[in-house]
Amino acid sequence: MTRDARSDDVAGRATALGLDGIDIDSAVATIARKLAFYDDHQPDKSAYPNEAKADAWTTVPASDWVSGFYPGALWYVHEFAMRRQWPDQALWRQRAHTWTTGLTDEQFTTTNHDLGFMIMDSFGHGYRLTGDEAYKAVVLQAAESLSKRYSETVGLIRSWGAIDDADNFVVIIDNMMNLELLVWASENGGPDRYRRIATQHADRTREEFFRPDHGTYHVIDFDPRTGALKRKYTHQGLADESCWSRGQTWAIYGYAYLHEATAEPRYLKHSIAAADHYLSRLPADHVPPSDFDSGLMGLEHRDSSAAALASCAFFRLSRLCPDAADKTRFWLAAVNALKTLLQRPYFSSSPDHASALRYQARNFHPDASHRLTNTSLIFGDYYLLEALLTYDGAVQPTSKAPSP
Ligand code: GLY
Repeated sequence: MTRDARSDDVAGRATALGLDGIDIDSAVATIARKLAFYDDHQPDKSAYPNEAKADAWTTVPASDWVSGFYPGALWYVHEFAMRRQWPDQALWRQRAHTWTTGLTDEQFTTTNHDLGFMIMDSFGHGYRLTGDEAYKAVVLQAAESLSKRYSETVGLIRSWGAIDDADNFVVIIDNMMNLELLVWASENGGPDRYRRIATQHADRTREEFFRPDHGTYHVIDFDPRTGALKRKYTHQGLADESCWSRGQTWAIYGYAYLHEATAEPRYLKHSIAAADHYLSRLPADHVPPSDFDSGLMGLEHRDSSAAALASCAFFRLSRLCPDAADKTRFWLAAVNALKTLLQRPYFSSSPDHASALRYQARNFHPDASHRLTNTSLIFGDYYLLEALLTYDGAVQPTSKAPSP
């Protein structure tokens, strides 16, 4: 979920003067058109957009980890429509509501860790923008479901696998993004236990997933009986010891969020360390290869979804960092990524592409049967919208959404 990054630092003022050349309204309108096209032409409201190589999305059911991103993107457009007083803002709210309520049953799932993505991006935004208590109840139940995957013995939330698997306890770096669900719930009527689970998960993740250079591992298997580490490996990167770029951005974003929510300085430190690793390896056009160690810089090997969520994370870091130099450099990193993503070849306004954002990678696994690159993913457009709305909130101080 985004929060307005109101920035009164030097970089923010430079941006407000129009030096960035970002046409927010045109970009949001293009993405909105594509999102509306899908809704208008998809009679099955339980078929959630997932991946697109051309003009049509493949779809997944509500139970898939990406299901929350389409309703989340619709909520962002609704938010923007309110800021700009678009005449069809009620239609955007209706669209977002329809696709959000299709996820209602997921609040009870305990079979994966992705409830944060699925429920915060749908019901979480719905509650934030409308104040509808029915949305909040779903978020609270989802937090309870996610908390069941936490183990006191391991000190982590189990990402993958059966909740009672006695041999393996698999955790992925992506799990950092699901902590918001727990922290938010603990601050909105849920027990304090949720917040403690989130911070313990974040603390052990820092110990186990970060290498000395602050690059991250993707997957770690622990012994559920003792909590001992069994194996570090990758599922979506090039190699066990390589750095999968999207995993790195999940870490940057997750710790930045957690610092904002808890005010714990150590989480800001971890986020900055992960961000510095990412930035030190970034190519000149600000879009990372799917794996930093692949050495492959062709467009078909890039992951613009990682760049989009890095932009969101850097806007947040720019706002959170107390140091003026950090504020400025993260602001510029966020804006540079956003500018690139809004241009060719990454951005497409053509109906030939179902998505706006191109050249993303689902999986860079060395086994070709798992590999999925040179494609578009619904979460790319979601995080691009989030970056655009965050930037808009920072440079247009009067554009804040009205309170529900
Ligand atoms: N969380 C799954 C992925 O980033 O592909």
